[in-house]
Amino acid sequence: MNPILEATNLSKTFAGMRAVNDVHIELYTDRVTGIIGPNGAGKTTLVHLLTGHVQPDQGQIHFEGRDITRLSADQRVMGQVCRTFQVVDIFPRLTVFENIQIARITREAKNLRWFGGAAKEAREAVEAALEEVGMWGFRNRRAEQLSHGQQRRIDLAVTLATDPKLCFLDEPTSGVSPKERDQMLELIARLAEAKRTTFVLIEHDMEVIFNLCAHVICMHRGAILAEGTPDDIRANKEIKEIYLGEEV
Ligand SMILES: Nc1ncnc2c1ncn2[C@@H]1O[C@H](COP(=O)(O)OP(=O)(O)OP(=O)(O)O)[C@@H](O)[C@H]1O
Ligand SMILES: [Mg+2]
Repeated sequence: MNPILEATNLSKTFAGMRAVNDVHIELYTDRVTGIIGPNGAGKTTLVHLLTGHVQPDQGQIHFEGRDITRLSADQRVMGQVCRTFQVVDIFPRLTVFENIQIARITREAKNLRWFGGAAKEAREAVEAALEEVGMWGFRNRRAEQLSHGQQRRIDLAVTLATDPKLCFLDEPTSGVSPKERDQMLELIARLAEAKRTTFVLIEHDMEVIFNLCAHVICMHRGAILAEGTPDDIRANKEIKEIYLGEEV
């Protein structure tokens, strides 16, 4: 099987500091990949690079065999590489429905497909995304009226409404209550099981990663320190040392 995304020799320096250092990564559609690593390891920067939010200093990114290295984030969304952000990124004064609609309409407009049946198709995609994340009943609420966990689900629906093939989730449970966290994790597991999209999950909680991901990549100081199955990662001495004192 070919990887859906492959990046080679990827590097990014900020003010003389290598946030991502010569990374080679392959992502496959048949598994959820987890990215772990201590604060500042370069996880978010790597996702920024792969999704076009930051341009690399060096390296190539291929998606479904095509070179997307120089494509913008919007162009990548059209090519169906999407992500949610570490911090919730929705419009607080708009309704839940409008938040998701905007993402879909933006995609259609940029595709120059805002004609004919596209409007109906877009509405259906928004409705489907709302159903998928269990937020249909909240569609007319303003986003600001929702709990943080619900806003995170809207964030996910925004991404799903663009029909991603590959979807990066940057700490999707950070800052939410334990109950909402469990609901979010169940939701991700269900969507992954249904092959809705290929997820790549960044998380600090090892148990979450080990439960959800068949393949785990550990970053440290901008580089990939190790990768493998959850069992491989659990047994890795270097990783244990990095997380000194933490249960792995
Ligand atoms: N825009 C930026 N300008 C300058 N430095 C940056 C920028 N973005 C990230 N960095 C630096 O790059 C390094 C990697 O940061 P990054 O946010 O990718 O880490 P992370 O693994 O996502 O950490 P966390 O677990 O805290 O989210 C850090 O030292 C950070 O300070
Ligand atoms: Mg981060």
